[in-house]
Amino acid sequence: MSTYRIAPSILSADFTRLGEEVISVAQAGADMIHIDVMDNHYVPNLTFGPLVCKALRPLTALPLDVHLMAAPVDDLIKDFAREGANIISFHPEATDHVDRTIQLIQDFGCQAGLVLNPSTPVNHLDWTLEKIDMVLVMSVNPGFGGQQFLEGTLDKVKLVREMIRKSGRKVALQVDGGINVENIRSVASAGGDTFVAGSAIFGANSYSQIIGEMKERLS
Ligand code: DX5
Ligand code: ZN
Repeated sequence: MSTYRIAPSILSADFTRLGEEVISVAQAGADMIHIDVMDNHYVPNLTFGPLVCKALRPLTALPLDVHLMAAPVDDLIKDFAREGANIISFHPEATDHVDRTIQLIQDFGCQAGLVLNPSTPVNHLDWTLEKIDMVLVMSVNPGFGGQQFLEGTLDKVKLVREMIRKSGRKVALQVDGGINVENIRSVASAGGDTFVAGSAIFGANSYSQIIGEMKERLS
């Protein structure tokens, strides 16, 4: 059986109590903390900078999983890595030199993830799958929490899972957007092993109950 991981996205947390929210989801069984970085340029929304990563770092031992929806990315990668990020993912459209950016993330001791938007072809994984640590398949268009899961992306998850299998490498397959208790099993069946959920978790009354239910569906 695969090892499944739940990654609550703090995009849907209560920002007036962000530290407490991170501590709460960690205690509730989260496996990593997903930090959605939006720059009002690559995506039409604006969220967190490296200082937020710095502030959260001492609060949890869980991996800080930074999803950069920003362009350009290289300077931001250095800043987030210095502030304690463990995993850094970027969109191939956001850099001119994908291979160099992957290398930069890994040189800072972080795991590197490559993100595929719903319309981004999987051939971006040719020549990169042999280096990266994670593929992030977007199941919504990036920019906002609380959007509806795009069913068509399940075929992409299946395709990427097959590419990872053929590579023979240990590469995580994260899926991000619109994931909830009802659909998490189908995402896992398609090949996802790491599940980002923002509104489904932070919108719930009990974080331990909702994360528990998600894990129950995966068992
Ligand atoms: C979308 C972000 C997602 C988002 C997930 O641009 O990358 O991480 O916050 O939120 P939900 O689970 O509400 O779709
Ligand atoms: Zn994200």
